[in-house]
Amino acid sequence: MASVLQQAAQTRTHVIQATSDEKRNALAQHLTPAETAKLAVSMFSELGSDQAFIRCLDLGAGTGMLSIALYDRYDGRIEQLDAVEADPVLATIFEAEMASVGVPHELTQGDALIATPDAAYDRVILNPPYKKMAANDPRQDALPCKSANLYAAFIAVGLSRLADNGELVAIVPRSWTNGGYFEPFRRYALSSYSLDAIHVYGSRTEVFSDTKVLQETMLVKFSKRKQVEEIEVSQSMGKSDGVTRTRYSSQDLIDPFGLVVRITPQDGSKLEETVCSLGLCPSTGKVVDFRNRERIFEEKPEGNDVYPMIYAGNFPKGVLEHPLRMGKPQWYKAEAGNVKALKQLIKPGPYVVVKRFSAKEEKRRVVARPLVLCTEAAIENHLNFIHAGTPRGVVPLRSVELAQGISLWLNSTYLDRWFRGVSGSTQVNARDIKAMPCPQLNDLERIGPRWRIGMEQGEIDEICKTFI
Ligand SMILES: C[S@@+](CC[C@H](N)C(=O)[O-])C[C@H]1O[C@@H](n2cnc3c(N)ncnc32)[C@H](O)[C@@H]1O
Repeated sequence: MASVLQQAAQTRTHVIQATSDEKRNALAQHLTPAETAKLAVSMFSELGSDQAFIRCLDLGAGTGMLSIALYDRYDGRIEQLDAVEADPVLATIFEAEMASVGVPHELTQGDALIATPDAAYDRVILNPPYKKMAANDPRQDALPCKSANLYAAFIAVGLSRLADNGELVAIVPRSWTNGGYFEPFRRYALSSYSLDAIHVYGSRTEVFSDTKVLQETMLVKFSKRKQVEEIEVSQSMGKSDGVTRTRYSSQDLIDPFGLVVRITPQDGSKLEETVCSLGLCPSTGKVVDFRNRERIFEEKPEGNDVYPMIYAGNFPKGVLEHPLRMGKPQWYKAEAGNVKALKQLIKPGPYVVVKRFSAKEEKRRVVARPLVLCTEAAIENHLNFIHAGTPRGVVPLRSVELAQGISLWLNSTYLDRWFRGVSGSTQVNARDIKAMPCPQLNDLERIGPRWRIGMEQGEIDEICKTFI
């Protein structure tokens, strides 16, 4: 490794050791390791012969690791490097680091969402802070798009400062690629810029292991030009491991409606419909148990105003077992006339439940079960359920066979791979289910009767392979 990067790595280690966890978390100071910085700058293009000098920008510059890596990459060709950093202590360290390598630079000490110079840059690099951003944060109005998290806001600001054909590389969590929170960001970034390359780390914890980051991290490269036809997707296990590279058609990775950005294409499926487009509606279980302590019971109370309370744990063998001794209250009381309590119940009939949370080491992310209710029941908040109504009104599915067919499909390896391709999270939200590809309902009803308790994965995949 070049000696400038080695020196930057030493500075980084000293700063990490001297920074309290409180300060690190308050400013999201998860400084980039030198190996990751080197990989990030390697994603930028070589300079053309017509491009003698470039202007660079580093947002949330910290101790300057990424600026040093840029200097190392484009030695002697940087006309000006601008940086923004909020923390005065790190700003001083940044100045000293840059002075030692002698790059023409200017650091603005302040908030990158407000104080970023209004200039055009050929290269923008950033490892932005990861922190939720409130919808009513006064800085939202000045951003190019609404941002659910500081990191998306930083990238949006960086993109807005790109010169024509300029390039931006960011070190970010994977969460921007799917889900509703980041939809405005995806729409902005994907409509005005080209997504050129993605690098994903196979190991969730490895990259920032010395600063306790548990987010799944990726590197992403955008440029200010028309969307390129092929996107390079590379992968490595940890920060120092070998890199494998593949190129995919941008049409296979970017959903035209901005719903998701995939990191692997959907393998060979002809499915054009989604759970949502077929009129199915995923909702999240309405009852949060700790907010309803007074109405949930382990032993069934007297009276006919008591209903089953259904948890993810009520399906130990893949089929509903209720009541079940599992350390969770199994009964929900909703007195006649108590409109609020009664509204939490769903009607008898067939549904599909999908677990919202799975452990990292579990084989499957998407776990679905048919649920056939003979009475009204309450669904606990750790479960999603699929019905045929709307978010405001639950309607059971039209047949038990359909519930079974949907369960078979959602439990297929194909669907699980699809989900891993679009989401880096172990959580499956109702919104994720809406976007899942789905065969026609008649076809699902046809395979439904083949659903059995305790099916092997191979049997499920064999049945579902007709759809792929
Ligand atoms: C994840 S660290 C990355 C630091 C450095 N770029 C690197 O890669 O090592 C994010 C940096 O952004 C800074 N920061 C946090 N909020 C900021 C803000 N609103 N404006 C500018 N900098 C900010 C933090 O102090 C921290 O140095």
